[in-house]
Amino acid sequence: MVTDNSELITPVHPVIEHYMRDLAEQFAHPVLDEMETFAQEKDFPIVGRLVGISLEICAKMIGARRVFEFGSGYGYSAYWFGRAVGPGGQVICTDSNPLNREKAEQCLAAVGLWERVTFCTGLAQDVFQKIDGNFDICYNDADKGGYPDIWLMARERIRPGGLYIADNVLWHGKVAGEDPADPKPGSTKAIREHNRLISTDPEFDAFINPTRDGVIVARRKMA
Ligand SMILES: C[S@@+](CC[C@H](N)C(=O)[O-])C[C@H]1O[C@@H](n2cnc3c(N)ncnc32)[C@H](O)[C@@H]1O
Repeated sequence: MVTDNSELITPVHPVIEHYMRDLAEQFAHPVLDEMETFAQEKDFPIVGRLVGISLEICAKMIGARRVFEFGSGYGYSAYWFGRAVGPGGQVICTDSNPLNREKAEQCLAAVGLWERVTFCTGLAQDVFQKIDGNFDICYNDADKGGYPDIWLMARERIRPGGLYIADNVLWHGKVAGEDPADPKPGSTKAIREHNRLISTDPEFDAFINPTRDGVIVARRKMA
């Protein structure tokens, strides 16, 4: 058991992440660059290029057409899901900050993806409960304290073969040790509980992609 994890910032060495990013040149796009520059300037926590690519490919692998996002920010992760669902597909975005919707519209319209997006301003959990139907993917990147409850509500509405995906599940390594310095009190405990619930759920198979801050992918078993 690791007890001092103060050095564990990212599990994959930055040099290797850089190499992986160079390999992904085919995904380059000026709007993507603009969205990433904006995140850097504002210190806004987007998933980043490598995780974005993995979201798109996971969604394409299961033929996803309907995605629900808990915590969309200004649409960076939705950019990747929007590409994956194709024309006529739907990405339901949620964010509590109305300014993020405006920025998302500006960015995603510029790449022809806005018509696939339904962007709802408000608490993601409330929006989810008001929208009918099941989803191919539920993606969770909201406040970390809410992770266990979001998993419990989302799991019920993922179709067999569909995915639950959540970002930041390694929480800069804090989930693996005993680090009392939690930048957001309660987050480490909540993420650990979230990861435990998913990993012990008999209806799902799950793995963690350790890129950046860790992304859990859980697939609902076929009935
Ligand atoms: C980590 S950022 C999302 C980044 C986005 N998924 C991306 O990679 O581009 C989290 C966002 O979720 C929003 N948020 C956090 N908890 C929320 C909740 N319970 N309901 C709605 N929005 C929430 C915040 O306002 C913030 O913009």
